[in-house]
Amino acid sequence: MPAGSNPSTKDQDISRFSPGEFSFDELSSRASLKWSTYPERLPAWVAETDFPTAPEVQEALAHAVRREQFGYVSDSLRDGVAWATVRWVAENLGWDVRSEQVKTIPDVLAAFEFALDFYLDGGSKVIVPTPTYYPFLVIAKRRGIGVVEVPLENQDGRWVLTPPELQRAFNEGGKLLVLCDPHNPTGTILTVEEQLDIASVVDANHGRVFSDLIHAPIAEQTPHPYAGTSLVAARHTISAIATSKAWNTAGLKAAQMVLTNDSDLKGWGRLGGRISNMASPLGVVAAMAAYESDPEWLRGFNAYISANRVTAQRSLEAIHPGLRAATPKGTYFEWLDLSQVSADPSELAHVGVALSHGSDMGAGFENYARLNLGAHRDTLTAILDRLARLSGLTS
Ligand SMILES: Cc1ncc(COP(=O)(O)O)c(C=O)c1O
Repeated sequence: MPAGSNPSTKDQDISRFSPGEFSFDELSSRASLKWSTYPERLPAWVAETDFPTAPEVQEALAHAVRREQFGYVSDSLRDGVAWATVRWVAENLGWDVRSEQVKTIPDVLAAFEFALDFYLDGGSKVIVPTPTYYPFLVIAKRRGIGVVEVPLENQDGRWVLTPPELQRAFNEGGKLLVLCDPHNPTGTILTVEEQLDIASVVDANHGRVFSDLIHAPIAEQTPHPYAGTSLVAARHTISAIATSKAWNTAGLKAAQMVLTNDSDLKGWGRLGGRISNMASPLGVVAAMAAYESDPEWLRGFNAYISANRVTAQRSLEAIHPGLRAATPKGTYFEWLDLSQVSADPSELAHVGVALSHGSDMGAGFENYARLNLGAHRDTLTAILDRLARLSGLTS
């Protein structure tokens, strides 16, 4: 048993996923970003869900709190979560990595910043396919790093990075490609063939890849981690994964970085200690418990998200057939083109919902918005009812 795991949870009767029956007051009382930022609106924006986490995660955290596991993260905790990660990615994603390649970090963005520090030298730029999870743009710009935005091509609802567009980005001084799979916000899951094509272009340009797998547990089909698709890809990639989205523990601060290149491992030896110490022991305990939890819980979670997607699809298509701008296979997002209902994202406030605005996600996406499906079906239905009023605003 890995260090730090909780023997008392092992033999318990573990119930499957439940969406919870929290009132809006209870959700607001969590004082998390999602429910407290726009108190007058129904929130479907930031990537938190409203669901309770898995029973094993709750139990492990309660146990850790009871024994006041509040000190700095120890090597045995790091080893424990590394082994739990190795097993989970092998069993669920078919990706074989070694435990010494898995590093504890506070969050996925810390891995992105490590990749920026490690891979970019004077003047080289980050390549960010757009639309994108907007902090990639914000962090690079704040650090004075140039960004080459590459608009994804919408192929019948699958938003994909094409090799010619990627080559253009390298021609413009790009060096580090951000590859998010499943993709936030469009929900595309890349095929192995697409990833091999991307790897050829990256390799030909001596580029590097930051592979963001944070949404990998949330998928209708198995994602193939980019670094696992070929040795070439493994050598030019830093990967990051976390349990924080599916098991809803983003505030607990623990993620895993996977270094599949020996010189990156040496770089970690020089730079990694400080980053690793910023992870929280409660986050590490939660991640370990999540990776080791009953797979039925995650299956139940994914089934609930799929059913929410069907509910959303029906309502959104009734509002306007072109409103759904993507056909996601992963993540708990829907990507919406509000121009189809002649609406502007600022009008979302008038109908009482908070979605994430496309204007933050790259040039050209000002009329788009991202809807978070991670809510009880009744809440989602209320959000969809309010979205239906958008088309009435301008008619
Ligand atoms: C694609 C993607 N990457 C990174 C993050 C940030 O993760 P973390 O909180 O671990 O930095 C998110 C959060 O929603 C995300 O969706």
